[in-house]
Amino acid sequence: MESRKLYIETYGCQMNVVDSEVVAAILLQHNYQLTEEVNEADLVLINTCSIRENAEQRVRTRLRDFGKIKQQNSRVSVGIIGCMAERLKEQLLEEETMVDLVVGPDAYRDLPALLQEVESGQKGINTILSLEETYGDIRPVRMDRNNVTSFVAIMRGCDNHCAYCVVPGTRGRERSRDPETILRETRDLFDNGYREVTLLGQNVNSYQWENGKQNMTFEKLLEEVAGIDPRLRVRFATSHPKDLPDSLLEVVSRFPNLCRAIHLPVQSGSTSVLERMKRRYTREHYMERISAIKKYIPGASISTDLIAGFCGETEEEHQQTLSLMEWVGYDFAYMFKYSQRPDTFAALRYSDDVPERVKGERLTEIIELQMKLSLESKQRDVGQTFEVLVEGTSKKSENQLFGRTSQNKVVVFPKGSFSPGDYAHVRITGCTSATLIGIA
Ligand code: SAH
Ligand code: SF4
Ligand code: F3S
Repeated sequence: MESRKLYIETYGCQMNVVDSEVVAAILLQHNYQLTEEVNEADLVLINTCSIRENAEQRVRTRLRDFGKIKQQNSRVSVGIIGCMAERLKEQLLEEETMVDLVVGPDAYRDLPALLQEVESGQKGINTILSLEETYGDIRPVRMDRNNVTSFVAIMRGCDNHCAYCVVPGTRGRERSRDPETILRETRDLFDNGYREVTLLGQNVNSYQWENGKQNMTFEKLLEEVAGIDPRLRVRFATSHPKDLPDSLLEVVSRFPNLCRAIHLPVQSGSTSVLERMKRRYTREHYMERISAIKKYIPGASISTDLIAGFCGETEEEHQQTLSLMEWVGYDFAYMFKYSQRPDTFAALRYSDDVPERVKGERLTEIIELQMKLSLESKQRDVGQTFEVLVEGTSKKSENQLFGRTSQNKVVVFPKGSFSPGDYAHVRITGCTSATLIGIA
Protein backbone atom coordinates (compact mmCIF):
# COMPACT_ATOMS: atom_id res chain seq x y z
CA MET A 1 0.00 0.00 0.00
CA GLU A 2 1.31 3.44 -0.90
CA SER A 3 2.32 5.39 2.19
CA ARG A 4 0.54 8.57 3.13
CA LYS A 5 2.27 11.87 3.80
CA LEU A 6 1.97 13.59 7.17
CA TYR A 7 2.61 17.27 7.77
CA ILE A 8 2.68 18.50 11.40
CA GLU A 9 2.77 22.10 12.53
CA THR A 10 3.48 22.73 16.22
CA TYR A 11 2.47 25.67 18.40
CA GLY A 12 2.90 26.28 22.13
CA CYS A 13 5.43 24.95 24.56
CA GLN A 14 8.30 22.47 24.45
CA MET A 15 5.95 19.75 25.64
CA ASN A 16 4.04 20.17 22.40
CA VAL A 17 7.28 19.81 20.43
CA VAL A 18 7.84 16.42 22.08
CA ASP A 19 4.21 15.44 21.61
CA SER A 20 4.46 16.10 17.87
CA GLU A 21 7.49 13.80 17.83
CA VAL A 22 5.47 11.14 19.65
CA VAL A 23 2.61 11.55 17.18
CA ALA A 24 5.06 11.22 14.29
CA ALA A 25 6.47 8.04 15.86
CA ILE A 26 2.97 6.53 16.18
CA LEU A 27 1.94 7.37 12.63
CA LEU A 28 5.25 6.32 11.05
CA GLN A 29 4.41 2.83 12.28
CA HIS A 30 1.09 3.06 10.45
CA ASN A 31 2.17 3.68 6.90
CA TYR A 32 2.74 7.43 7.14
CA GLN A 33 5.87 9.31 6.24
CA LEU A 34 6.75 12.87 7.24
CA THR A 35 6.80 15.75 4.82
CA GLU A 36 7.86 19.34 5.37
CA GLU A 37 5.74 20.45 2.41
CA VAL A 38 2.16 21.12 3.41
CA ASN A 39 1.07 21.01 -0.25
CA GLU A 40 2.28 17.40 -0.52
CA ALA A 41 0.43 16.20 2.58
CA ASP A 42 -2.43 13.72 2.78
CA LEU A 43 -2.82 14.49 6.48
CA VAL A 44 -2.25 17.90 8.05
CA LEU A 45 -2.04 17.96 11.85
CA ILE A 46 -1.87 21.16 13.83
CA ASN A 47 -0.65 20.72 17.40
CA THR A 48 -2.22 23.58 19.28
CA CYS A 49 -1.85 25.74 22.39
CA SER A 50 -4.54 27.39 24.53
CA ILE A 51 -2.39 29.25 27.03
CA ARG A 52 -3.43 32.74 25.89
CA GLU A 53 -6.23 33.85 23.63
CA ASN A 54 -3.84 34.97 20.89
CA ALA A 55 -2.34 31.46 20.75
CA GLU A 56 -5.76 30.14 19.79
CA GLN A 57 -6.40 33.01 17.37
CA ARG A 58 -3.19 32.17 15.51
CA VAL A 59 -4.37 28.58 15.03
CA ARG A 60 -7.80 29.72 13.79
CA THR A 61 -6.10 31.95 11.22
CA ARG A 62 -3.81 29.14 10.09
CA LEU A 63 -6.82 26.84 9.68
CA ARG A 64 -8.10 29.20 6.94
CA ASP A 65 -4.93 28.37 4.93
CA PHE A 66 -5.46 24.65 5.40
CA GLY A 67 -9.10 25.09 4.37
CA LYS A 68 -7.93 26.48 1.03
CA ILE A 69 -5.58 23.53 0.53
CA LYS A 70 -8.46 21.21 1.24
CA GLN A 71 -10.68 22.96 -1.30
CA GLN A 72 -8.06 22.25 -3.94
CA ASN A 73 -7.55 18.64 -2.90
CA SER A 74 -10.46 16.98 -1.15
CA ARG A 75 -8.33 13.94 -0.23
CA VAL A 76 -6.46 15.95 2.38
CA SER A 77 -7.55 15.43 6.00
CA VAL A 78 -7.02 18.10 8.64
CA GLY A 79 -6.69 17.33 12.34
CA ILE A 80 -6.41 19.50 15.42
CA ILE A 81 -4.43 17.94 18.25
CA GLY A 82 -3.07 19.28 21.55
CA CYS A 83 -4.43 21.68 24.10
CA MET A 84 -7.04 23.46 21.97
CA ALA A 85 -8.45 20.10 20.94
CA GLU A 86 -8.75 19.18 24.60
CA ARG A 87 -10.26 22.49 25.66
CA LEU A 88 -12.86 22.82 22.90
CA LYS A 89 -13.60 19.18 22.05
CA GLU A 90 -16.72 18.74 19.79
CA GLN A 91 -17.14 22.50 19.63
CA LEU A 92 -14.11 22.61 17.32
CA LEU A 93 -15.76 20.22 14.85
CA GLU A 94 -18.86 22.40 14.87
CA GLU A 95 -17.06 25.71 14.48
CA GLU A 96 -14.39 24.62 12.02
CA THR A 97 -16.30 22.49 9.54
CA MET A 98 -13.22 21.65 7.48
CA VAL A 99 -11.64 19.85 10.45
CA ASP A 100 -11.86 16.04 10.29
CA LEU A 101 -10.14 15.06 13.49
CA VAL A 102 -9.87 16.38 17.07
CA VAL A 103 -7.47 14.56 19.41
CA GLY A 104 -6.40 15.58 22.93
CA PRO A 105 -2.89 15.16 24.41
CA ASP A 106 -3.55 11.81 26.09
CA ALA A 107 -5.25 10.13 23.13
CA TYR A 108 -2.51 10.00 20.50
CA ARG A 109 -2.29 6.21 20.54
CA ASP A 110 -5.83 6.22 19.18
CA LEU A 111 -4.81 8.24 16.10
CA PRO A 112 -4.46 5.29 13.68
CA ALA A 113 -7.96 4.04 14.57
CA LEU A 114 -9.44 7.54 14.38
CA LEU A 115 -7.81 8.07 10.98
CA GLN A 116 -9.52 4.97 9.69
CA GLU A 117 -12.84 6.49 10.69
CA VAL A 118 -11.87 9.66 8.86
CA GLU A 119 -10.98 7.63 5.77
CA SER A 120 -14.44 6.15 5.79
CA GLY A 121 -15.93 9.62 5.75
CA GLN A 122 -16.66 10.18 9.43
CA LYS A 123 -15.19 12.69 11.84
CA GLY A 124 -12.73 11.37 14.44
CA ILE A 125 -12.62 12.64 18.01
CA ASN A 126 -10.97 11.50 21.23
CA THR A 127 -10.31 13.93 24.06
CA ILE A 128 -10.23 11.49 26.96
CA LEU A 129 -7.58 12.42 29.52
CA SER A 130 -5.66 9.67 31.27
CA LEU A 131 -4.21 9.18 34.73
CA GLU A 132 -1.39 6.97 33.43
CA GLU A 133 -0.47 7.78 29.85
CA THR A 134 3.16 8.98 29.53
CA TYR A 135 4.03 7.54 26.08
CA GLY A 136 7.04 6.20 27.99
CA ASP A 137 7.66 3.33 25.61
CA ILE A 138 7.47 5.43 22.44
CA ARG A 139 10.70 6.71 21.00
CA PRO A 140 9.90 10.19 19.62
CA VAL A 141 10.88 10.86 16.00
CA ARG A 142 13.05 13.97 16.23
CA MET A 143 11.95 16.68 13.86
CA ASP A 144 14.21 19.53 14.99
CA ARG A 145 17.18 18.25 12.96
CA ASN A 146 19.93 20.22 14.64
CA ASN A 147 20.93 16.78 16.02
CA VAL A 148 22.63 18.41 19.00
CA THR A 149 19.91 19.42 21.47
CA SER A 150 16.68 17.66 22.30
CA PHE A 151 13.80 17.65 24.76
CA VAL A 152 12.90 14.62 26.86
CA ALA A 153 9.51 14.60 28.57
CA ILE A 154 9.73 13.20 32.10
CA MET A 155 6.19 13.86 33.22
CA ARG A 156 2.82 15.06 31.96
CA GLY A 157 -0.06 17.09 33.30
CA CYS A 158 -0.15 19.52 36.19
CA ASP A 159 -1.82 19.47 39.61
CA ASN A 160 -1.08 23.04 40.57
CA HIS A 161 -4.17 24.92 39.43
CA CYS A 162 -2.70 28.40 39.24
CA ALA A 163 -5.76 30.63 38.96
CA TYR A 164 -5.02 31.94 35.45
CA CYS A 165 -3.90 28.72 33.79
CA VAL A 166 -5.60 26.30 31.37
CA VAL A 167 -2.88 23.64 31.52
CA PRO A 168 -4.39 21.47 34.29
CA GLY A 169 -7.60 21.44 32.25
CA THR A 170 -5.97 20.61 28.92
CA ARG A 171 -3.27 18.24 30.16
CA GLY A 172 -4.94 16.53 33.07
CA ARG A 173 -3.45 15.15 36.25
CA GLU A 174 0.25 15.12 36.94
CA ARG A 175 2.02 11.81 36.31
CA SER A 176 5.68 10.82 36.06
CA ARG A 177 7.30 8.67 33.42
CA ASP A 178 9.16 5.44 34.14
CA PRO A 179 12.81 6.46 34.76
CA GLU A 180 14.11 3.43 32.81
CA THR A 181 12.48 4.78 29.64
CA ILE A 182 13.81 8.30 30.31
CA LEU A 183 17.35 6.97 30.71
CA ARG A 184 17.06 4.71 27.67
CA GLU A 185 15.84 7.57 25.49
CA THR A 186 18.56 9.90 26.74
CA ARG A 187 21.35 7.32 26.22
CA ASP A 188 20.02 6.76 22.72
CA LEU A 189 20.17 10.47 21.99
CA PHE A 190 23.73 10.65 23.26
CA ASP A 191 24.76 7.63 21.17
CA ASN A 192 23.27 9.37 18.15
CA GLY A 193 25.44 12.43 18.65
CA TYR A 194 23.15 14.63 20.73
CA ARG A 195 25.00 16.63 23.37
CA GLU A 196 22.21 18.34 25.30
CA VAL A 197 18.85 17.27 26.69
CA THR A 198 16.23 19.36 28.44
CA LEU A 199 14.08 17.33 30.83
CA LEU A 200 10.52 18.59 30.57
CA GLY A 201 7.55 18.79 32.88
CA GLN A 202 5.19 21.52 34.07
CA ASN A 203 6.67 21.15 37.54
CA VAL A 204 9.75 18.91 37.42
CA ASN A 205 10.47 19.19 41.14
CA SER A 206 7.48 17.00 41.89
CA TYR A 207 8.76 14.17 39.66
CA GLN A 208 8.19 10.97 41.61
CA TRP A 209 8.35 7.34 40.52
CA GLU A 210 7.54 4.50 42.84
CA ASN A 211 7.71 0.88 41.84
CA GLY A 212 8.22 -1.73 44.52
CA LYS A 213 11.47 -0.83 46.25
CA GLN A 214 12.40 1.82 43.72
CA ASN A 215 11.62 5.39 44.73
CA MET A 216 12.96 7.90 42.25
CA THR A 217 12.90 11.60 43.06
CA PHE A 218 13.81 14.36 40.62
CA GLU A 219 17.21 14.78 42.31
CA LYS A 220 18.03 11.10 41.82
CA LEU A 221 16.81 11.16 38.24
CA LEU A 222 18.99 14.18 37.50
CA GLU A 223 22.04 12.44 38.95
CA GLU A 224 21.40 9.41 36.78
CA VAL A 225 20.86 11.42 33.61
CA ALA A 226 23.92 13.57 34.33
CA GLY A 227 25.89 10.35 34.93
CA ILE A 228 25.25 9.07 31.39
CA ASP A 229 28.26 11.01 30.09
CA PRO A 230 30.04 14.18 31.21
CA ARG A 231 29.87 15.39 27.60
CA LEU A 232 26.07 15.43 27.75
CA ARG A 233 24.64 18.71 28.98
CA VAL A 234 21.44 18.49 30.96
CA ARG A 235 18.84 21.21 31.50
CA PHE A 236 15.39 21.03 33.04
CA ALA A 237 12.17 23.05 32.95
CA THR A 238 10.04 24.08 34.67
CA SER A 239 10.74 24.43 38.37
CA HIS A 240 8.00 25.78 40.60
CA PRO A 241 9.28 28.23 43.22
CA LYS A 242 7.16 26.64 45.93
CA ASP A 243 9.17 23.43 45.69
CA LEU A 244 12.71 24.03 44.53
CA PRO A 245 14.67 22.38 47.35
CA ASP A 246 18.29 22.96 48.38
CA SER A 247 18.92 19.27 47.73
CA LEU A 248 18.28 19.87 44.01
CA LEU A 249 20.57 22.90 43.88
CA GLU A 250 23.21 20.83 45.63
CA VAL A 251 23.00 18.13 42.93
CA VAL A 252 23.34 20.76 40.19
CA SER A 253 26.37 22.23 41.93
CA ARG A 254 28.09 18.81 41.97
CA PHE A 255 27.78 17.95 38.26
CA PRO A 256 29.54 20.29 35.81
CA ASN A 257 27.32 19.01 32.98
CA LEU A 258 24.13 20.07 34.79
CA CYS A 259 23.69 23.49 33.27
CA ARG A 260 24.20 26.68 35.23
CA ALA A 261 20.79 28.03 34.30
CA ILE A 262 17.69 27.97 36.44
CA HIS A 263 14.29 28.91 35.06
CA LEU A 264 12.10 29.92 37.98
CA PRO A 265 8.83 31.54 36.86
CA VAL A 266 7.75 34.15 39.38
CA GLN A 267 4.69 35.57 37.52
CA SER A 268 4.45 38.57 39.86
CA GLY A 269 6.60 40.32 42.45
CA SER A 270 3.65 41.08 44.71
CA THR A 271 2.62 38.69 47.47
CA SER A 272 -1.03 39.74 47.22
CA VAL A 273 -1.10 39.10 43.46
CA LEU A 274 0.65 35.74 43.98
CA GLU A 275 -2.02 34.85 46.48
CA ARG A 276 -4.79 35.70 44.00
CA MET A 277 -2.90 33.67 41.40
CA LYS A 278 -2.86 30.73 43.84
CA ARG A 279 0.87 30.35 43.35
CA ARG A 280 1.36 29.29 46.97
CA TYR A 281 4.53 31.27 47.72
CA THR A 282 5.29 34.83 48.76
CA ARG A 283 7.67 37.43 47.37
CA GLU A 284 9.94 36.74 50.37
CA HIS A 285 9.96 32.98 49.81
CA TYR A 286 10.84 33.53 46.17
CA MET A 287 13.69 35.89 47.11
CA GLU A 288 14.99 33.35 49.58
CA ARG A 289 15.03 30.70 46.80
CA ILE A 290 16.96 33.08 44.52
CA SER A 291 19.52 33.59 47.28
CA ALA A 292 19.84 29.82 47.60
CA ILE A 293 20.46 29.47 43.84
CA LYS A 294 23.16 32.14 44.02
CA LYS A 295 24.74 30.42 47.03
CA TYR A 296 24.79 26.86 45.65
CA ILE A 297 25.48 27.68 41.99
CA PRO A 298 27.53 30.87 41.75
CA GLY A 299 27.41 32.31 38.25
CA ALA A 300 24.14 30.58 37.39
CA SER A 301 21.83 32.50 35.11
CA ILE A 302 18.30 32.98 36.32
CA SER A 303 15.30 33.36 34.03
CA THR A 304 11.60 33.73 34.67
CA ASP A 305 8.05 34.14 33.35
CA LEU A 306 6.02 37.26 34.15
CA ILE A 307 2.37 38.18 33.73
CA ALA A 308 1.35 41.86 33.52
CA GLY A 309 -2.12 43.02 34.54
CA PHE A 310 -3.55 40.03 36.40
CA CYS A 311 -7.01 40.52 37.95
CA GLY A 312 -7.08 43.40 40.43
CA GLU A 313 -3.41 44.29 39.92
CA THR A 314 -2.78 47.81 41.29
CA GLU A 315 -0.03 50.15 40.20
CA GLU A 316 1.73 49.46 43.48
CA GLU A 317 1.60 45.70 42.91
CA HIS A 318 2.98 46.21 39.41
CA GLN A 319 5.83 48.29 40.84
CA GLN A 320 6.68 45.35 43.09
CA THR A 321 7.17 43.18 40.00
CA LEU A 322 9.59 45.77 38.59
CA SER A 323 11.51 46.03 41.87
CA LEU A 324 11.78 42.26 42.18
CA MET A 325 13.11 42.04 38.61
CA GLU A 326 15.82 44.57 39.52
CA TRP A 327 16.62 42.75 42.74
CA VAL A 328 17.05 39.37 41.02
CA GLY A 329 18.73 40.85 37.94
CA TYR A 330 17.14 38.31 35.59
CA ASP A 331 19.28 37.18 32.69
CA PHE A 332 16.23 36.42 30.58
CA ALA A 333 12.43 36.51 30.85
CA TYR A 334 9.28 35.49 29.01
CA MET A 335 6.78 38.29 29.51
CA PHE A 336 3.03 38.21 28.88
CA LYS A 337 -0.12 40.27 29.23
CA TYR A 338 -2.71 38.49 31.32
CA SER A 339 -5.22 36.76 29.07
CA GLN A 340 -8.39 35.50 30.71
CA ARG A 341 -9.04 31.86 29.85
CA PRO A 342 -12.50 30.30 30.04
CA ASP A 343 -13.26 27.99 32.99
CA THR A 344 -10.12 28.84 34.97
CA PHE A 345 -10.44 29.83 38.62
CA ALA A 346 -9.65 33.45 37.71
CA ALA A 347 -12.30 33.52 34.98
CA LEU A 348 -14.94 32.07 37.29
CA ARG A 349 -14.12 34.06 40.43
CA TYR A 350 -12.37 37.32 39.59
CA SER A 351 -13.01 40.20 37.27
CA ASP A 352 -10.52 40.81 34.46
CA ASP A 353 -10.51 44.45 35.49
CA VAL A 354 -7.13 45.87 34.46
CA PRO A 355 -7.88 47.86 31.29
CA GLU A 356 -6.20 46.59 28.11
CA ARG A 357 -4.31 49.89 27.77
CA VAL A 358 -2.89 49.57 31.30
CA LYS A 359 -1.91 45.94 30.73
CA GLY A 360 -0.07 47.08 27.61
CA GLU A 361 1.72 49.90 29.43
CA ARG A 362 2.78 47.62 32.27
CA LEU A 363 4.01 44.96 29.88
CA THR A 364 6.03 47.58 28.02
CA GLU A 365 7.64 48.71 31.28
CA ILE A 366 8.47 45.11 32.15
CA ILE A 367 9.95 44.44 28.70
CA GLU A 368 12.02 47.63 28.76
CA LEU A 369 13.41 46.83 32.18
CA GLN A 370 14.25 43.28 31.08
CA MET A 371 16.05 44.62 27.98
CA LYS A 372 18.27 46.62 30.31
CA LEU A 373 18.83 43.63 32.65
CA SER A 374 19.55 41.28 29.72
CA LEU A 375 22.11 43.70 28.34
CA GLU A 376 23.78 44.05 31.75
CA SER A 377 23.83 40.25 32.06
CA LYS A 378 25.61 39.93 28.70
CA GLN A 379 28.00 42.78 29.46
CA ARG A 380 29.16 40.98 32.60
CA ASP A 381 30.38 38.14 30.35
CA VAL A 382 32.54 40.28 28.08
CA GLY A 383 36.21 39.43 28.59
CA GLN A 384 35.45 35.98 30.01
CA THR A 385 35.84 32.59 28.32
CA PHE A 386 32.95 30.10 28.18
CA GLU A 387 32.51 26.55 27.04
CA VAL A 388 30.04 26.74 24.17
CA LEU A 389 28.13 23.79 22.73
CA VAL A 390 27.96 24.43 18.99
CA GLU A 391 24.42 24.06 17.62
CA GLY A 392 24.73 25.23 14.03
CA THR A 393 25.59 27.92 11.50
CA SER A 394 24.57 31.45 12.36
CA LYS A 395 21.52 32.70 10.48
CA LYS A 396 23.30 35.93 9.64
CA SER A 397 26.55 34.54 8.25
CA GLU A 398 27.80 31.27 6.75
CA ASN A 399 31.19 31.87 8.35
CA GLN A 400 29.84 32.11 11.88
CA LEU A 401 28.62 29.39 14.20
CA PHE A 402 26.20 29.75 17.07
CA GLY A 403 25.86 27.81 20.28
CA ARG A 404 25.06 28.30 23.94
CA THR A 405 26.93 28.63 27.19
CA SER A 406 25.99 26.49 30.14
CA GLN A 407 24.12 29.61 31.33
CA ASN A 408 21.95 29.29 28.19
CA LYS A 409 23.21 32.46 26.54
CA VAL A 410 23.56 32.40 22.76
CA VAL A 411 27.09 32.97 21.44
CA VAL A 412 28.09 33.72 17.84
CA PHE A 413 31.72 33.22 16.78
CA PRO A 414 33.85 32.52 13.67
CA LYS A 415 33.57 28.96 12.38
CA GLY A 416 37.20 27.85 12.48
CA SER A 417 37.28 24.05 12.40
CA PHE A 418 34.29 23.50 14.71
CA SER A 419 31.11 21.64 13.79
CA PRO A 420 27.71 21.24 15.47
CA GLY A 421 27.99 19.04 18.57
CA ASP A 422 31.53 20.24 19.40
CA TYR A 423 32.44 22.13 22.55
CA ALA A 424 34.38 25.31 21.83
CA HIS A 425 36.09 27.58 24.34
CA VAL A 426 34.99 31.02 23.30
CA ARG A 427 36.29 34.32 24.63
CA ILE A 428 33.55 36.93 24.69
CA THR A 429 34.52 40.16 22.97
CA GLY A 430 31.19 41.95 22.67
CA CYS A 431 27.43 41.62 22.99
CA THR A 432 23.93 42.87 22.27
CA SER A 433 21.03 42.42 24.71
CA ALA A 434 20.24 39.08 23.00
CA THR A 435 23.60 37.63 21.89
CA LEU A 436 27.20 37.26 22.97
CA ILE A 437 29.88 37.70 20.33
CA GLY A 438 33.23 35.96 20.70
CA ILE A 439 36.28 34.22 19.27
CA ALA A 440 37.26 30.60 19.80
N1 SAH B 1 4.32 25.08 34.06
C1 SAH B 1 5.07 26.19 33.77
C2 SAH B 1 4.67 27.01 32.54
C3 SAH B 1 3.28 27.04 32.11
S1 SAH B 1 2.76 28.08 30.81
C4 SAH B 1 5.10 27.05 35.00
O1 SAH B 1 4.30 26.90 35.87
O2 SAH B 1 5.94 27.88 35.08
C5 SAH B 1 4.03 29.22 30.56
C6 SAH B 1 3.77 30.60 31.05
O3 SAH B 1 2.64 31.18 30.42
C7 SAH B 1 3.43 30.71 32.53
O4 SAH B 1 4.55 30.63 33.32
C8 SAH B 1 2.78 32.07 32.59
O5 SAH B 1 3.73 33.09 32.76
C9 SAH B 1 2.14 32.21 31.23
N2 SAH B 1 0.68 32.10 31.30
C10 SAH B 1 -0.04 31.04 31.68
N3 SAH B 1 -1.36 31.33 31.65
C11 SAH B 1 -1.47 32.63 31.25
C12 SAH B 1 -2.56 33.51 31.01
N4 SAH B 1 -3.81 33.13 31.22
N5 SAH B 1 -2.29 34.77 30.58
C13 SAH B 1 -1.01 35.17 30.37
N6 SAH B 1 0.05 34.38 30.56
C14 SAH B 1 -0.16 33.12 31.01
FE1 SF4 C 1 -0.09 26.34 34.78
FE2 SF4 C 1 0.66 26.74 37.28
FE3 SF4 C 1 0.66 24.27 36.27
FE4 SF4 C 1 2.45 26.04 35.44
S1 SF4 C 1 2.29 25.22 37.52
S2 SF4 C 1 1.25 24.68 34.16
S3 SF4 C 1 1.32 27.95 35.48
S4 SF4 C 1 -1.12 25.54 36.64
FE1 F3S D 1 1.86 23.97 26.38
FE2 F3S D 1 0.13 25.71 25.49
FE3 F3S D 1 -0.69 23.38 26.24
S1 F3S D 1 1.84 26.15 26.76
S2 F3S D 1 0.73 22.72 27.80
S3 F3S D 1 0.67 23.81 24.54
S4 F3S D 1 -1.73 25.29 26.59
